[in-house]
Amino acid sequence: MKVITFGASTSSTSINKALATYAANLIDGAEVKVLDINNYQVPMFSEDKEKEIGQAEGAQAFLRDLDEADVFVISYAEHNGHYPAAYKNLFDWATRIDREVFKSKPAIYLATSPGPGGAQTVLAAATGSAPYFGGNVKASVSVPSFYDNFDFESGSISNAEIAEQLKQAVATLTA
Ligand SMILES: Cc1cc2nc3c(=O)[nH]c(=O)nc-3n(C[C@H](O)[C@H](O)[C@H](O)COP(=O)(O)O)c2cc1C
Repeated sequence: MKVITFGASTSSTSINKALATYAANLIDGAEVKVLDINNYQVPMFSEDKEKEIGQAEGAQAFLRDLDEADVFVISYAEHNGHYPAAYKNLFDWATRIDREVFKSKPAIYLATSPGPGGAQTVLAAATGSAPYFGGNVKASVSVPSFYDNFDFESGSISNAEIAEQLKQAVATLTA
């Protein structure tokens, strides 16, 4: 089973990338490919720009990489209650090529932040809108206070309750 995973973040030290990578590797026998959103260069979206260039190459490459997936593990960073602008921009370009971005493949959606809110607002937005974009969300988990609940040395969740929630969430991908 091929797992495509990424943090919806452009930060080189993304906690969402760390969380997504950890959760994806909980799947037994999975081949995990971690995408980096920075690798898909797209201009700022406008309909004028789209008329000028047609499809953005970075969005084509993003969709090609997503197509390799059997399942997805995605963790969303929250910027002012929404997707980070760079991810939203890439996503918008991708939807102009194919609105069924995630092709109804099973997915778990995660989100984390340094604070107690655990990026729940963006997680609710991503989960709520998923059906419009071929998102087939089997489970979602928000992880609050990431730096208190993740051990960077071992690359794993240190809070037993959250670790169990994540284990149960990934199990839905193979059920
Ligand atoms: C512009 C900006 C807006 C932010 N807004 C929120 C927010 O609305 N809610 C929240 O929990 N954290 C917010 N944060 C803090 C992020 O959760 C934090 O930077 C986190 O590390 C982002 O995830 P990442 O490391 O995966 O990029 C914001 C950070 C930035 C830079």
